[in-house]
Amino acid sequence: MSDVFINAYHRLPVTFTRGEGAWLWDTGGKKYLDFGSGIAVNSLGHGHPALVKALREQAAKLIHVCNYYQSDTAVRFAERLIAACSRAGMKKLFLANSGAEANEGAAKLARKYSLKKYGPGRHRIVTLKGSFHGRTITTLSATGQEKFHKDFGPFTEGFAFIPGGDIGALDRALDKTRTAGLLLEAIQGESGIIPQSPEFIAEAAKLCAERDILLMFDEVQCGTGRTGAFLACEHYGVKPDVVTLAKGLAGGVPVGAFLAGEKAADTLESGDHGSTFGGNPLAAAAGLAVLETVDRPAFLAEISRKGERLVSAVKAWNHPRVKEVRGRGLMAGVDIEGEAGAVLEKALEAGLLLLSAGPNTLRFLPPYIISDAEIERGLEILRGIL
Ligand SMILES: Cc1ncc(COP(=O)(O)O)c(C=O)c1O
Repeated sequence: MSDVFINAYHRLPVTFTRGEGAWLWDTGGKKYLDFGSGIAVNSLGHGHPALVKALREQAAKLIHVCNYYQSDTAVRFAERLIAACSRAGMKKLFLANSGAEANEGAAKLARKYSLKKYGPGRHRIVTLKGSFHGRTITTLSATGQEKFHKDFGPFTEGFAFIPGGDIGALDRALDKTRTAGLLLEAIQGESGIIPQSPEFIAEAAKLCAERDILLMFDEVQCGTGRTGAFLACEHYGVKPDVVTLAKGLAGGVPVGAFLAGEKAADTLESGDHGSTFGGNPLAAAAGLAVLETVDRPAFLAEISRKGERLVSAVKAWNHPRVKEVRGRGLMAGVDIEGEAGAVLEKALEAGLLLLSAGPNTLRFLPPYIISDAEIERGLEILRGIL
């Protein structure tokens, strides 16, 4: 392992050189089955022909223009993304490079929306305990997990946390004299694949609409088809005011986006926000290839089917170390007895790439193109380890 990197990550002892489909190869030629997709990023797996072709062709034509101009590829990507998110009421978008940057933009949008309509003082953004919204100072401030806060204060003011599912706390926190927005993950990823209840989401949508507070879904991890609908909020039948996306949206090329519905689509004005790389032609070409593959009813239905197969297979083990299995589409969490980290290390040795989410939860985020046989193979390895 090279020691020139700043020691920010807890890395496992492996160095990868190439990938194909749901498989990766390390420097020694050993192959690994990928059940993590680089934390929900490699949505189409590795070396997907449509993604590779789009990148090759775009790289030869035009890699970057600054955002003083448009590129034809970014226009096509943006229009295709709005079409995919129109079921959730999205009208306009801003392209960025990461989930944190998308959420920063969403926070700015909520603050400006409120300021323009109600004047200063109504700038608070409510988020959920256990949430994860990014690693910048502001998105850490929005993240409802103490363990990420230590050592990095002072934080951006104006964030408040409530427990997911607590309708009384929601009602109190959505104080219309102080609050501009509610930011939540339909299914919390980093804290253990924790879905919000339909009742809680319905109440959040109702209160936000009544009080003119922006309802914002962070779909950085659970969006882009991961749960079997293009956006996870579609499962709840609500139309948010803002949605953020990143991770799997361009299959591994850095991209992020915040999208706005009718209410906030025209809030930002020229000069209010920007990003040098945001939505550059190369990222847009990759994003377009992902959208054209993923945003199709038959493809999304396959994600749901494979996810159900995975979750029901683990449940059917009735394994004494498996405490609970949760999931939607190809986003699943398995609570186990014992350390998830130790299982990850053993899985790596056995040629399976797994993720954890919290100390005792295994997290499954396989690429959408994984086959039934590959799912079975990965699960057999895991069962052996457990
Ligand atoms: C729900 C959610 N929001 C935001 C982020 C931050 O995304 P990024 O690492 O691209 O900044 C993540 C990353 O894990 C996430 O899971």
